[in-house]
Amino acid sequence: MIPRLKAEGLTRILGGRRVVDGIDLSVAAGQVTCLLGPSGCGKSTTLRIIAGVDRQDAGTVTLNGKVVADDHVHIPPEDRGVGLMFQDFALFPHLTVAQNIGFGLRRDGVSDARVEELLIRVDLAGYGRKHPHELSGGEQQRVALARALAPRPGIMLMDEPFSGLDNRLRDGIRDATLNVLKEEGTAVLLVTHEPDEAMRMADEIALMRDGRIVQRAAPYNIYNAPVDREAAAFFSDINTLSAEVNGALTHTPFGQFLAPGHADGTMVDIVFRPQHVRLDFDRNGRGPSPTETEGTPARGTVERARFMGKESLVEFVMDDGRTRVTATVPAVFLPRAGTVMWLSIRRDRCFVFRQPEKAHA
Ligand SMILES: Nc1ncnc2c1ncn2[C@@H]1O[C@H](COP(=O)(O)OP(=O)(O)OP(=O)(O)O)[C@@H](O)[C@H]1O
Ligand SMILES: [Mg+2]
Repeated sequence: MIPRLKAEGLTRILGGRRVVDGIDLSVAAGQVTCLLGPSGCGKSTTLRIIAGVDRQDAGTVTLNGKVVADDHVHIPPEDRGVGLMFQDFALFPHLTVAQNIGFGLRRDGVSDARVEELLIRVDLAGYGRKHPHELSGGEQQRVALARALAPRPGIMLMDEPFSGLDNRLRDGIRDATLNVLKEEGTAVLLVTHEPDEAMRMADEIALMRDGRIVQRAAPYNIYNAPVDREAAAFFSDINTLSAEVNGALTHTPFGQFLAPGHADGTMVDIVFRPQHVRLDFDRNGRGPSPTETEGTPARGTVERARFMGKESLVEFVMDDGRTRVTATVPAVFLPRAGTVMWLSIRRDRCFVFRQPEKAHA
């Protein structure tokens, strides 16, 4: 299937720096791709180039099978057939809700039926004659969504469209928005710096760092098979055991880990998430027996335990005196500082990464 949106080699140099550095992306009809990454990594610049409000220094943008931007072509934003939605989705204050939604349609002849259809879609039937100041933030956001969708763009570009919303409203609005976009079969590129939002919305996450995409995968895969330590750390707190490879093996307080493909003497990080640590009480200096799935247990002492609401966070110092491990456990479990416990790690949830060069120095 031909993707609705395709970007190849997008590059943008600003202030002498490659803020967007060879971005490749594609989004099919009815799919949501989230461009996710830390502040300043170049997400908005990428989106702005695709929208046509900024120009690339190199690369090609193809929308609906047609090149809209390359070294020779620059189709203006209004002729690209994309819907745009940004953080400040300013509605026209002097126009009614229906007029706001119909605004973009003027050129092509407004269909009142389409406006009515969209009002129902975004759950605002009967709101058409109100003015923006009579609506809550969440309702205004839905009007903005309806306005962007009114001309039936095949492609929707959204830049942190939910960030101005109250926390409690946000989840509901995200889901409602997603439903509408799926019903309309729109190809969506959504920019966000929040991993939770990307996990919730995306069919595919494109993880961005320093102007590049470091990994493109479905939420499940990106969470469970991150490309590097930083990618793992973007989605949750992580634990890291640092170890040297010897004969494709490493020795850690949790026994040996396989490190295939790493030369002897290489330093690797064994990375795992706090929710994949199992805790057992100490029984007269003994812990549970080693198992294939959870490896060799290691003994540690509770340094601190904190109640976080849906889970508790327990921090340990291991018996070697230098390895620190954090475990999360569902519900309230607050052992006292000084409590001795045995920790096991789900082996299939550990990632082994070569340490970046600078860490060797
Ligand atoms: N006109 C400009 N001149 C020089 N540098 C710029 C310009 N516009 C953006 N930048 C820089 O480019 C980088 C990428 O900016 P961009 O807005 O794309 O980041 P972002 O990933 O959207 O970040 P955020 O999550 O904070 O919105 C930033 O370091 C920014 O300071
Ligand atoms: Mg931005």
